[in-house]
Parts: sequence; C-alpha cells; structure tokens
Amino acid sequence: MAIRLGDVAPNFKATTTEGEIDFYQWMGDKWAVLFSHPKDFTPVCTTELGAVAKLKPEFEKRGVKVIGLSVDAVKDHAGWSKDIEETQGARLNFPLIADADRKVSDLYDMIHPNANDTFTVRSVFVIDNNKKVRLTITYPASTGRNFDEILRTIDSLKLTSNHQVATPVNWKQGDDVIIVPALSNEDAKKKFPNGWKELKPYLRIVPDPSKQTTT
Ligand code: BEZ
Repeated sequence: MAIRLGDVAPNFKATTTEGEIDFYQWMGDKWAVLFSHPKDFTPVCTTELGAVAKLKPEFEKRGVKVIGLSVDAVKDHAGWSKDIEETQGARLNFPLIADADRKVSDLYDMIHPNANDTFTVRSVFVIDNNKKVRLTITYPASTGRNFDEILRTIDSLKLTSNHQVATPVNWKQGDDVIIVPALSNEDAKKKFPNGWKELKPYLRIVPDPSKQTTT
C-alpha cells in the first residue's frame, strides 16, 4: 500500500553497507531521509550518491540522517562505492540498504511496475523524529534528484512545525513566510507583535520567525 503524508513510517530490519540495522533504532531521535535509486553501477545514481555524501554535513546540521537503498547486493554496493569516490570525489559516508529480496522496497512501494518491474524508482521519504512521514517525492530513473531541494523542504518542514507559518513558492531559509490562514488576526498579533504585510486577508507576510531576535 502506498505510504502517505502523516502515516507512520513502517519499521524494518535490513542489511546495509554499515551492517545489519533496525530502521527505528538507526534513526534514534533524529529525522531521516530514506531514498531509493534504481541500480548500482549506473550513471545518474553514481552522481546522486556522490552529491548526498558531499551534502551529509548539511543534513547533520539539521538533525537528519540519510540512508539509501537499491535492490542490489551489499557486495555490489561495496564495489560501486569505489567508483563513486573515484568519479565524484566523495566517499560514501552513509548506509546503503541492500534490498535484494525487495522487502523494504515493497514495504515503501518503491517499485512502480508500469515504470520498471525490477528496479526501484527514485523515491524519497522524509521522516520526522516521531516516525511520521513528512514528505514523499518520486522521480523516474532517468531524472536525477535535486538534493538541495530536499534540504530546502526540510528547512520548511522544521520551520512550519515550530511556528504557525507556511512557506511560499521558491522559499529558502531566511526569506519571508506566510501566516497560516487558520490563525486569526487577533491571535496573529500575539505571535507577530511587529505586525505583517497584508496583501489580502488570507495572504499575510512576516519575516522568517526563526531569524527574529527578541529585544
Ligand atoms: C542511472 O542511474 O543512470 C539509471 C538507472 C536506471 C535506469 C536509467 C538510468
């Protein structure tokens, strides 16, 4: 069954390049990005895994762990990781699940038979520290993902979880945000005492509240 936003991310045990894991134990109290790629020793996947390895400090800064998956065996992952390091200039620094029996792929609906009945598509699940699924993205095999965009969505998810705001189109950390329509003007005055720019009664703009210093 498809996994939807707000669902509890199912737990699993798996073999990875860093040994056997229980997913929940591996996450601990952190958020996680679980992403699948179609196949080892393929060009787009090689560039993606190099990019994620380089971005690992950015994920860590946000309290997020990353873990990849394909239906290849762990010995393939180990051999391929040398190619990733050689061609992308980054050593694999996060676990890759070897899902040869497709247990996790099936659990997370990562194989889309009308696209390819053998390999996983490029799925992304952002899972919060309560094990809730907060974001899902699916790309086809031929299109590499933009992991800066995944960092951007994590910034939005964390900000909007902590403040009664939403982030507008193309928002990035530090940009102005939108007061959620559910917050009345009366309550908004308490939360945003410096006021807001009201373009429409439902479109109220305030500076990023996480960047505000209190005086
Ligand atoms: C790739 O990673 O380059 C790739 C994998 C499967 C199908 C097409 C491209």
